[in-house]
Amino acid sequence: MSDSVIQLDGINHSYGDLTVLDRISFQVRRAESLAIVGPSGCGKTTLLRIIGGDLTPSNGRIRRAGRVRTVHQRSGLLPWRTVAENIELGLRNGSPLSRKQPELQDLLRLFRLERFADFYPHQLSGGMRQRAEVGRALAGETEILLLDEPFSSLDYLTRLRLRNELVELLRIRPRTVVLVTHDVTEAAQLADRILVLSDRPAIIRREIRIESMRPREPTSPEVVRVAHEILSELGLEHDLRNGVADSAVPMI
Ligand SMILES: Nc1ncnc2c1ncn2[C@@H]1O[C@H](COP(=O)(O)OP(=O)(O)O)[C@@H](O)[C@H]1O
Ligand SMILES: [Mg+2]
Repeated sequence: MSDSVIQLDGINHSYGDLTVLDRISFQVRRAESLAIVGPSGCGKTTLLRIIGGDLTPSNGRIRRAGRVRTVHQRSGLLPWRTVAENIELGLRNGSPLSRKQPELQDLLRLFRLERFADFYPHQLSGGMRQRAEVGRALAGETEILLLDEPFSSLDYLTRLRLRNELVELLRIRPRTVVLVTHDVTEAAQLADRILVLSDRPAIIRREIRIESMRPREPTSPEVVRVAHEILSELGLEHDLRNGVADSAVPMI
């Protein structure tokens, strides 16, 4: 209990008459990576906004220990700032930039963004923008990283590459992660634990623990098995077997 960084107790949320979340309770331990998977519109973004403190739930208690950064589906980079300036903003915690210069250079190298340091977001590809966005979120001393379908707007190969990079970055800079995704392979590859939500109003249908350590290959037997398990929990395994879903990247 003592190493839990996020704790939700009986969270309910309604937008007016529309009940979105129903008695959601769970904890996330320090440096754990938790994935949340569920049907479109079931309340995943709402849940992440509650965890991040952007939204007060209608009922229930939330406790969070540490600073939070959120990465959204589409880039939240400041368009009038360069890549380096955006990352520098993530880094700065009231300390002067001059002291942060060496760390900024290290980060640009780590995120493979050196060549793009002086580019503005609109000059980057979608993949580069999300890489810079994740970079900015991992800069500085943030403890909690919230990812809301961070790679879903990207093409398949870029998504695979960024996923692998994220695993590596988290090895170097461990963070407590909550990842919302509708890509079941992504959940099985990145998470230590997966919560499968129901249709709205969302309840936690199932919790799946993944025993093997990260990094995991997207094609490893355990990742494939867990991906099937999630789909089967959502009643979608049939689509996967019949090739209706893209068999390489089952999405819901
Ligand atoms: N600010 C809001 N006001 C009213 N309804 C909202 C608001 N945000 C989301 N909703 C509704 O709540 C439901 C859950 O939304 P959301 O949390 O974005 O789901 P998900 O991220 O799982 O797709 C949807 O039906 C959505 O239309
Ligand atoms: Mg959403």
